[in-house]
Amino acid sequence: MAVTGAGLEGIVATDSAICFIDGDLGILSYQGFDIHTLADHATFEEVIFLLWNGRLPNRQELDGLKAALVKHRPIDKNVAGFVGWVGKSNPMDMLRTAVSMLSLYDPQAKDMSPEANHEKAIKLMAQTATIVTTFDRLRNGKTVVDGDPSLGFAANFLYTLTGKKPDEVMERAFDLAMILHADHELNASTFAARVTAATLSDIYSSVTSGIGALKGPLHGGANEDVIRMLLEAGSESAALQHVHDRLNTKRKIPGFGHRVYRTEDPRATHLRAMSEELGKRTGHLDLYLTSKKLEETIKDLKGLNANVDFYSASTYYSLGIPIDLFTPIFAVSRMSGWTAHILEQYRNNRLIRPRAEYTGKAVGQPWIPIEQR
Ligand code: COA
Repeated sequence: MAVTGAGLEGIVATDSAICFIDGDLGILSYQGFDIHTLADHATFEEVIFLLWNGRLPNRQELDGLKAALVKHRPIDKNVAGFVGWVGKSNPMDMLRTAVSMLSLYDPQAKDMSPEANHEKAIKLMAQTATIVTTFDRLRNGKTVVDGDPSLGFAANFLYTLTGKKPDEVMERAFDLAMILHADHELNASTFAARVTAATLSDIYSSVTSGIGALKGPLHGGANEDVIRMLLEAGSESAALQHVHDRLNTKRKIPGFGHRVYRTEDPRATHLRAMSEELGKRTGHLDLYLTSKKLEETIKDLKGLNANVDFYSASTYYSLGIPIDLFTPIFAVSRMSGWTAHILEQYRNNRLIRPRAEYTGKAVGQPWIPIEQR
C-alpha cells in the first residue's frame, strides 16, 4: 500500500470544479474567476451564486438569490432561545450547536432532492449570519435587531450586529472579507464537510462537521490568536520580542505559513490593503503598522508569508467586531464554500474512505486473562 505523507500533504482526494489554487504562483480562483477579479468587481451574493452554480448570475438571478437570502434570515424561535440561553459560551461552540439545531426545525431537513438541498444551502447562508449577530446582541443584554430587507448580506450583518447601518467603506470592507474567505478548495473544514456528505448524511450534519474543523487554531481559529498576540504585546517592540521568543522556542506564530502557498497568499494582498485603509479611518493604524513590521521580520527570519488570517484580524478589529466573533465570521463566509462542495459531492458521490498505514503491534497478540495483566 502507498504510504501518504502525514496530514495528506499533496494528496489529491477528489475532483472538484469549484476552486483552483496554485500555491507556487499564488493563484486562487473560484469557478475560473481569479480572486483579484472577484475582489475588484463582485459582491458576496454574486460569489455565492458563482460557487453554487459555476457561473455568474444575470440581474434577475441575482435579485432572486438576494430575495431568498432575505426571506430566510429569521431563525426558529427555539434556536433563538438556545442562542440566548448559552450566554457567554464560546461562540464557535454555540455556532456549531445552533447550526446543527436548525435541522430540527426545518421541514425540508430530510428531503435529499437537489432542489431541497439548494434551498437548505440558502437557509444555511442566511441563518448562520443571524445566529452570530443574535448571539452577540443577547449575550451583551441588547435587543435583537431585525434585519433590514433593503440591505445586502454584508451591510445587514454589520447592522444586525451593531445596530448601526454601516457606511459604504465599512460595507465594502466586510463584503470583500466575505468574498476572500468564501472558499479554498480542500481546506480542512471543507474536507470534513465533504467526508460527512459522502456518507449521504444531510447538509446540516455536513456543515456542522465543517464548523467543528474550522474552530481549531491551525485553521480558522488563527485569526483570533493573531489579534490577541498583537494586543497583548501592546507595542511594536514588544510584538517583535514576542515573535523572537516564539521562534526560539519553536512555537508557531498565528497568521503565518500555509500548507499550499509557497508565495504570498493572494487573499492577504487585499486584506493588508484593507487593514491599512480601515486602520487610518478608525484610529487603529498602529495595529496595521505593527502587523507590517511582524510580517517583514518573519519573512526575513523564517521565509514565511502571512496567510489569510493575519490581516483579517486587524481588519475585523477595525470594523469593531468582537474578537471572539472572528472565527464565527469566517464560518459565515465559508458556509458558501462548504455548501457548494457538499452539493457537488452529492451530485457525483462516492463514499470517502481512505486507508491507514498500520504501525501497531504484530497481529495475533496472545490473550492475557484480566487477573494476570
Ligand atoms: N510559525 C512558525 N513556524 C512555522 C509556522 C508558523 N506559523 N508555520 C510553519 N512553520 C514552520 C514549521 O515550524 C516547520 O518548520 P520546520 O520544518 O523547521 O520544523 C515548517 O514551517 C513547516 O510547517 P508545518 O507545520 O509542517 O506546515 P503544515 O503545512 O503542516 O502547516 C499551517 C500549515 C497553516 C497549519 C502552519 O503553517 C501553522 O500552524 N500556521 C499557524 C496557524 C495559522 O495561521 N493557521 C491558519 C492557516 S490559513
